[in-house]
Amino acid sequence: MRVIVTAGPTREYLDPVRFLSNPSTGKMGFAIAAEAARRGHEVTLVAGPVALKTPNRVHRVDVTSAREMLAAVKKAAQRADILIATAAVADWRPAKCAAQKLKKSQMSGTLKLVRNPDILKTVKGVRKIGFAAETNDVLAEAVRKCREKGLSFIVANDVTKKGSGFGTDTNKVTFVFADGTLKFFPLMTKARVAKRILDEVSCL
Ligand code: C5P
Repeated sequence: MRVIVTAGPTREYLDPVRFLSNPSTGKMGFAIAAEAARRGHEVTLVAGPVALKTPNRVHRVDVTSAREMLAAVKKAAQRADILIATAAVADWRPAKCAAQKLKKSQMSGTLKLVRNPDILKTVKGVRKIGFAAETNDVLAEAVRKCREKGLSFIVANDVTKKGSGFGTDTNKVTFVFADGTLKFFPLMTKARVAKRILDEVSCL
């Protein structure tokens, strides 16, 4: 299969030295890309700014903002079978990015934001797997997102639980399908979660 994986955070700049972002390290996405390549799939890894080594036999495209990530994914999706979106895409970006560093005196204390595109929802014509990092109502939110974004399934995790979420080497996940079917897993390494996801993908 030809697989696209998105990973890491995006950065949304308000001037050349300041941005909005989040603590995503890209570990989950890189683990999936590595495992998919190991299984012989053709992998394009669209990565936000992260400090990880490119896995063997993976074609990596580095991007910074959500809009750049969308453009890279759309291009790759023209010849892909599946999109696995692990990226923690910033939902909002500053309405304007100043060409020069803003002086304190030029900043009002209020930042006007605009919505970023939803990459996973926007891209069509491929099978889609999403991630839902939640702090509450984890499963109900995951079912809603699975339906809204037209996904084959969504990997839900409670990021308030120890060993789950940003920057950890482990994750405790549940696969949630649009019809409400759930598959629960114990706490596992991200490498093992990647294997379970690709096993599930091979049954789609
Ligand atoms: O709606 P929410 O951000 O919680 O959805 C998470 C899922 O959607 C993840 O798979 C994430 O990679 C993807 N997503 C995206 N583009 C966005 C926001 C989220 O691809 N702008």
